Amino acid sequence: MGSDELLTSPSFLFLLMARLLLLVKLRILGAFVALIHLLGLTRAPAGFPHSGNGLWYNKPGTLWSRELLPVGNGYQAAMIPGGTMQEATQLNIESLWSGGPFADQAYNGGNKLPREQTAMAEAMQSIRQTIFNDPTGDIDTIEVLATDPGQYGSYAGAGYLLSNINSTGPVTGYSRWLDLDEGVARTTWTQAGAKYLRTTFCSHPTQACTQHITTTTPSASLPSLSYTFSPGLEHNLPAPNVTCLNSSSLLVRGFVSVAPSPPSMLYSFIFRVSASTASSSVRCIQFPVPSGSPPNATIEVTGTDNSAGLQEAHVTWVGSTDYSMDAGDAAHNFTFRGADPHSSLLALLLLSPATFSVQSLLDQHIQDYKATLTTPFCLSFSSSTWSIRNLVDIPTDILLSQYAIDAGGKANVYLEWVMFNYGRYLLASSARGLLPANLQGKWANGIGNAWSADSNINIQMNYWIAETTNLDVTQSLFDFLQKTLAPRGAETAKVLYNITRGWVTHNEIFGHTGMKLGGGTFAQWMIHVWDHFDHTNDVTWWKCQGWPLIKGVASFHLDKLIPDLYFNDSTLVVTPCNSPEQTPITFGCAHAQQLIWQLLNAVEKGFAASGDTDVVFLDEVRAKRDKMDKGLHIGSLGQLQEWKVEKDSLTDTHRHLSHLIGLYPGYAIISYDESLQGGGKQTTYTKDEVVSGALISLLHRGNGTGPDADSGWEKVWRAAAWAQLGDRDRFYHELSFAVSENFGENLFSLYDPSDSEAIFQIDGNLGYSAAVMNAIIQAPDVPTLATPLIITLLPALPKQWDTGSIKGVRVRGGISINLCWTEGKLKQASFSVDALIISRPVKVVYAGKVLRSFITSPGSREDITGL
Ligand SMILES: *[C@@H]1O[C@H](CO)[C@@H](O)[C@H](O)[C@H]1NC(C)=O
Ligand SMILES: *[C@@H]1O[C@H](CO)[C@@H](O)[C@H](O)[C@H]1NC(C)=O
Ligand SMILES: *[C@@H]1O[C@H](CO)[C@@H](O)[C@H](O)[C@H]1NC(C)=O
Ligand SMILES: *[C@@H]1O[C@H](CO)[C@@H](O)[C@H](O)[C@H]1NC(C)=O
Ligand SMILES: *[C@@H]1O[C@H](CO)[C@@H](O)[C@H](O)[C@H]1NC(C)=O
Ligand SMILES: *[C@@H]1O[C@H](CO)[C@@H](O)[C@H](O)[C@H]1NC(C)=O
Ligand SMILES: *[C@@H]1O[C@H](CO)[C@@H](O)[C@H](O)[C@H]1NC(C)=O
Ligand SMILES: *[C@@H]1O[C@H](CO)[C@@H](O)[C@H](O)[C@H]1NC(C)=O
Repeated sequence: MGSDELLTSPSFLFLLMARLLLLVKLRILGAFVALIHLLGLTRAPAGFPHSGNGLWYNKPGTLWSRELLPVGNGYQAAMIPGGTMQEATQLNIESLWSGGPFADQAYNGGNKLPREQTAMAEAMQSIRQTIFNDPTGDIDTIEVLATDPGQYGSYAGAGYLLSNINSTGPVTGYSRWLDLDEGVARTTWTQAGAKYLRTTFCSHPTQACTQHITTTTPSASLPSLSYTFSPGLEHNLPAPNVTCLNSSSLLVRGFVSVAPSPPSMLYSFIFRVSASTASSSVRCIQFPVPSGSPPNATIEVTGTDNSAGLQEAHVTWVGSTDYSMDAGDAAHNFTFRGADPHSSLLALLLLSPATFSVQSLLDQHIQDYKATLTTPFCLSFSSSTWSIRNLVDIPTDILLSQYAIDAGGKANVYLEWVMFNYGRYLLASSARGLLPANLQGKWANGIGNAWSADSNINIQMNYWIAETTNLDVTQSLFDFLQKTLAPRGAETAKVLYNITRGWVTHNEIFGHTGMKLGGGTFAQWMIHVWDHFDHTNDVTWWKCQGWPLIKGVASFHLDKLIPDLYFNDSTLVVTPCNSPEQTPITFGCAHAQQLIWQLLNAVEKGFAASGDTDVVFLDEVRAKRDKMDKGLHIGSLGQLQEWKVEKDSLTDTHRHLSHLIGLYPGYAIISYDESLQGGGKQTTYTKDEVVSGALISLLHRGNGTGPDADSGWEKVWRAAAWAQLGDRDRFYHELSFAVSENFGENLFSLYDPSDSEAIFQIDGNLGYSAAVMNAIIQAPDVPTLATPLIITLLPALPKQWDTGSIKGVRVRGGISINLCWTEGKLKQASFSVDALIISRPVKVVYAGKVLRSFITSPGSREDITGL
């Protein structure tokens, strides 16, 4: 058939007509939606927070990573579609992980065997020699040091809770929302004359999640309800045994994967159903199943005939596994295997007794939530405007679809503010368990997740907001370092590096500290440890947990630094190293050198408070720090070099900003001090030269759309870095570029946003909030406690956020700050110090001028007014 024929064929004409009609319809629909909002004809749901602090939609969600809404308490998490007759709540347990010693008895954290120590030491020596002798300072491969990750496994989804309502008929008046003032997800709709309200929350104090259903129509009662557990919806999760624990509780017990020996990780839930009225009956019914199939059961709730009927019911669930972080050391043979969780789950349920009303569980949750998130800290952008109907009344998916780069406008600013709060919500709702927030916080669907949803380079970005936005959520991170990485990492140090003091890690949950084949990311976590102490001045914590972590890693690096035999400039360098996720394996990588320098400074700054008397160690730290290469070299193009041997290309738009770690979130670049560079024949630069080198590198790294790189996290990192350089236009461009490109309707940061099953990467959400903070207030670390701390107010405030206030910001030196601004100008700022270890000099800078200088003292307070 030729093209003429095609054009005149009746079916083609029909198709064309249909297309045109659809187009016209869509146009009309679009205009209609806009008109509805303009006229204020849509309304946020009645219970939506008046503050505007939340997300809402007028249709249920179906796509997991783009539409479902997250709730969590750190121990457990859940994704809420907002269904009506059936709610399929997707569940997570924080430690549910396939692989590791649970799947392979020989699993040893990706380490070489002890008997390979000498061979490795020799290989290491020869690798170093090759690197130093190579004209470009490179080596093609260091595969001999790496291991096959083998049974590395993945963080896994834990199945679905199906909550059914036996009702039929058309649904009207539908909305669902996530309340970020209270940490609660709700769905409401009307069907067959009854208005329903379903409420879901995960409470941190009780470690339990609760889902409540009620009808708010006085005369209507609920039809019968049922609750079942479905592994089938969780891709590849083997079917567990589902049995009746008693008349109102379902017991779920299953293995994360089919592995007869050793048994894979056991997971278990107990779902307990309560209905408050005497006129209801709750029954657990064991389904008939074919013999050989795992048992299955359901809980049914019905109103009894002789009364007003069923008014409300709720299900409360707790879940856990037999993983134990406390069994991740040599004394437990690195088994990570803990007790069967059954008795601890029963004990947990006692914290939310069946006799408690949902209201009292909810009140307790909200009180804890506010104390964690909203009382200590608050950011507003022109606080009163959100209540204007046509902002709060626009559903979140429409707000996002109308969002434009660089545009500003109240609707955009409102969305930017919600997303900032959402970042804090996601961190607090995922980090307050026993394990830190991973690449997906604690929200993951299916048995295998992208990059295992693990915690290597991304975890650092996850925590950028923790200290400054006053979130007390870092304990699990430090426990993870201490109990999971340090014990096995000491073995890695010994077997792989022939270093008998301290520890090192290259990765993950079952203490995977060895070097993975195909990658050698030398993760550096210690910024968080030092920063926690620096922001809180918590000496007790520092002595027992922070300092030992810092000392362990610093000890390792003292031995890892070796003389540079390439340049013979009398400096110490690390080798082999790579710049995270870049190819060359070389020596003196800027990323590692800057971080180690910062780490050794932290040793000196924290030594006095640690109570440690090991001055030999301190002296060695000082001596090696002075001699080491600082990772700051300016290349022929004016750029800050990524490696000590110049290999940079100005067309390299790699996703990572590894060599700019000292710009943000570190300080080797931004707090550069010429007098501290010392050592050998090192070139010293002025601060201006170093900072403009960083600027050139940042500029040429592009806007975060390079190869394998169009994700949110790299754009928000760039935004934070531009804010650090005081460039508010570039800051806002990158930030708004990320918002417009990389977020789903549920405001999850997506790696591949055009895919309907896009991959969620929480670091984009959490890094977003950190970038916003960095435009409003900055107090980068300094090399010594005598160096003045420079607190810069509104360093990169975009004109779009011209009026606002922030309260409860925490910066270094244990200083708390409140400030407000109107029409782009600072109005007022106050500084207060509570706990104090040592008095520190502070300079407050605004618009390029020092506004105030002071020395901190216990209870000191400084107010800047009358601006
Ligand atoms: C400890 O674990 C290793 C494998 O990592 C195994 O070969 C060994 O038998 C275990 N030892 C004990 C005492 O269980
Ligand atoms: C390993 O370290 C030990 C102790 O420092 C040292 O004696 C030995 O020479 C090292 N082995 C190699 C091959 O470098
Ligand atoms: C659901 O409701 C219908 C109509 O009221 C009833 O016939 C049926 O038995 C109910 N099913 C269950 C499982 O309760
Ligand atoms: C149990 O029954 C429910 C409801 O029929 C079903 O969705 C679920 O997949 C079943 N569970 C198992 C383990 O087969
Ligand atoms: C069923 O067991 C759960 C968990 O121990 C308990 O909280 C609940 O009170 C029990 N219910 C009944 C009716 O025995
Ligand atoms: C499920 O039940 C079967 C049969 O009783 C049992 O062999 C199996 O160990 C049970 N699985 C779990 C996880 O408890
Ligand atoms: C550096 O010193 C080593 C060992 O002394 C020597 O082999 C090498 O040629 C020197 N390199 C340069 C660039 O001078
Ligand atoms: C991002 O960078 C690419 C490549 O330089 C350019 O084509 C594109 O217009 C930029 N987009 C934005 C929003 O800056």
